[in-house]
Amino acid sequence: AISMARKIGAVCTPCPRTWWRSSPRCDQVFSITAKTEEEVNIVRNVSSDYETVLWQPAAPDYITANAEVHLFVPASSLATVKGLLDNHSILNEVLLQNTQELIEKQTRNVSTDPRSSMSYYERYHPLEEIYEWINKTTHDHSDMVKVILIGSSYEKRPLYVLKLSGKGGTQPKRAMWIDCGIHAREWISQAFCLWFVQYSVEYYNHIPDITEILDNMDVYVLPVMNPDGYKYTWTTKRMWRKNRSRQPGSYCVGTDLNRNFDANWCTVGSSNRACDDTYCGQFPESEPESEAVANFLRSHKETMKLYLSIHSYSQMLLFPYSYTYEEADNHEELNELAKEAAMNIRRHYRSFYKFGAGAKTIYLAPGGSDDWAYNLGIKYSFTFELQDKGRYGFLLPPELIPNACNEALTAVKTIALGVIKKT
Ligand code: ARG
Ligand code: ZN
Repeated sequence: AISMARKIGAVCTPCPRTWWRSSPRCDQVFSITAKTEEEVNIVRNVSSDYETVLWQPAAPDYITANAEVHLFVPASSLATVKGLLDNHSILNEVLLQNTQELIEKQTRNVSTDPRSSMSYYERYHPLEEIYEWINKTTHDHSDMVKVILIGSSYEKRPLYVLKLSGKGGTQPKRAMWIDCGIHAREWISQAFCLWFVQYSVEYYNHIPDITEILDNMDVYVLPVMNPDGYKYTWTTKRMWRKNRSRQPGSYCVGTDLNRNFDANWCTVGSSNRACDDTYCGQFPESEPESEAVANFLRSHKETMKLYLSIHSYSQMLLFPYSYTYEEADNHEELNELAKEAAMNIRRHYRSFYKFGAGAKTIYLAPGGSDDWAYNLGIKYSFTFELQDKGRYGFLLPPELIPNACNEALTAVKTIALGVIKKT
C-alpha cells in the first residue's frame, strides 16, 4: 500500500516521532552544519557510506566546518543517518520533508488542465518534449533560428544547438555560447535555455537590449548538454548529476561532464573513482557530450567571444579560474562584468547573487567547461548558478521558474552587452 501511495504521489507521512513506527516513509533533505574537523569527517563519511545524495556541496571533499551541507536522504537510510548525526550531536534540521510532493509538482503535466494559466515556459519538460520544442521553434522562426547537430550523447541521443541570429549588424558576426543542463538534476538550467530562446524570438526587434545583442552576435544555445542524464532524472533517479556512460571495470555509471574538460583535468577537486558524483572520466573529453561541445567551440574560436554555462543552485556568477586559486589575466574585467550583472539582478528582482572566481568563491574544481573555454581563448567565460539558495534546491517549484529565469536573463544580457562594447 505504501509503495502504491508513493507512486501516485500521495503526501508522505512525515518522519515518525513515535518509537513504534520504525520506518519513515519519505525521502528528506537535511541541512547539516559540522562545527569541528571531527564533525566534518563524520558528515563526510555519512554522505559517502550511506545511500544518500549530496546536494551541496557537490562532493564530500568540499564539506568544511561551519558551512551548510544539504543532504538528500532516501527513506530507507533516514533512521540510520538521523541516528548517526544525533548521536554525535551534529547540528541538523530537515530542510525538505515533502520531496515526493515537490517532485510530483515538477513533473505534473498541467497542459491537460485548461484552467491552468501557466505557459509552456513556466513548466519543466521531459526530454522528448524538448526535442519537439526544438523542432517547432526552428520551424516557426526559421528566419532567425537554425538547428545544428553537434554530436550525440553516450546513449546516442542527438545534441542540438540552436543558432539565433538577428538581421542587423555587420557580417561576419561575433558569437556567444550558452549551454544548459550539463548536470542532469539542475532542471532550472534546461528550463532557462528554453526561456532564453523564447525571449529572443519574441522580443527581437521589440526590446532594445536583446535586439542589440542579436544584431551583434550569433547566439549558440545548447538546451540539453546531458540528454541521457536528463532523461534518467525523469524516469529513474531525480537526483542524478552525471552523464550515463559505462566505465570499464566498474559497475558504476556516469562521468561528471563538468570535470571532464582539459583544464588541469582530474586533479584536486574532482574524483578518479567512477562511483563518485564528481568522477572526471577516463581522460579529458572521454565523454561524447564534452567532446562535442569542445569540438564545436574549437571550430568557432575565432568568432566566439563569450562562453556561458548554466547550472543551479546557489545564486552565483562565477568566472575562471576554478582549477587554481590564481587569478585570470583579465580578472578585474570579469569581476566588473559579474558585479554589474549581480547589481542589476538585485535592483530588478531583489535577489542576491554572489560573484567571483570559482575556486575562491566555492571550491577548487578542475576540468570545468568554463576554465577550458577560457584557456581556449574565449576571454569572457562564466558559470551561472541559478536559484535558489537552498529553500528548494533542485526541487524548485514550477511557479518559481519565471523569476529564476528573468534574473538569469538580466545577467546574460548585462554581460553580453558588456562584451559587445569591449570586443
Ligand atoms: N557547481 C559547479 C560544479 O561543481 C561549479 C562550476 C564552476 N566552474 C568550474 N569549472 N568548476 O561543477
Ligand atoms: Zn551543476
